[in-house]
Amino acid sequence: MSELNKDRIPKHIAIIMDGNGRWAKQHGVPRLAGHRAGMEAMKKIVDHSDKLGVEHLTVYAFSTENWKRSMEEVSGIFKLLVTFVNRDLKELIDNNVCVKVLGDYSMIPADSKEALERTLASTKADTGLQFNIALNYGGRDEIRRSVESIAGRVKAGELQPEDITEEMIGDGLWTGKEHANSPDPELIIRTSGEERLSNFLLWQGAYSEFVFSDVLWPDFTPQEYEKCIAEYQSRDRRFGGR
Ligand code: FPP
Repeated sequence: MSELNKDRIPKHIAIIMDGNGRWAKQHGVPRLAGHRAGMEAMKKIVDHSDKLGVEHLTVYAFSTENWKRSMEEVSGIFKLLVTFVNRDLKELIDNNVCVKVLGDYSMIPADSKEALERTLASTKADTGLQFNIALNYGGRDEIRRSVESIAGRVKAGELQPEDITEEMIGDGLWTGKEHANSPDPELIIRTSGEERLSNFLLWQGAYSEFVFSDVLWPDFTPQEYEKCIAEYQSRDRRFGGR
């Protein structure tokens, strides 16, 4: 952690892990081998976040749009999730990592769902790094869900429309008080040279710093990660004020 200011490590870092497909193409291997390499990169970033003292790490593992990919690729990604859990759950527990899911994962394959629920249950009380996996996640979808629940309260006469606050909308998101309870991310990283938000943390990213790395996700190392955090630390955050 040579050039990093230990006192200004973001509390919450969110990552769009992009470029697995292009990495696979570059190496002449199937797309799924790219996702497998991506999973290994993800594991190292979880470990490193813990070492750096990051409190919340959120990764975009599967979006509401990713269902459009081939059946083979979709089921392969979920199999990787089972592999990750079976291999690394013990280590996550040993490291006091608490895993949460952002998104409605009720429709994922049964074995992945079972593995995930085992992970959530056995890391629930952990007080170290909180590792949020965004699965079947969509930013617009979660805002719609939160608004739907608030509308239900208005309909029931519990709340007047003019009493709706930004805080209430935030509380009903997957990161909100009723679920993962993570603060807004100070830093959002996207790899592979793409510079879009792709429906990720639309509400929560209102004041986030964005750092884009040209590295394809499977090649993203803890050193690259530190470079992104150093870039964040070099910026002056004003939240619209002076
Ligand atoms: C984006 O690369 C990556 C994904 C959509 C999947 C991310 C999955 C992992 C990193 C591994 C699995 C881990 C878990 C926890 C399920 P892309 O395929 O869009 O790459 P491309 O833009 O180069 O095609």
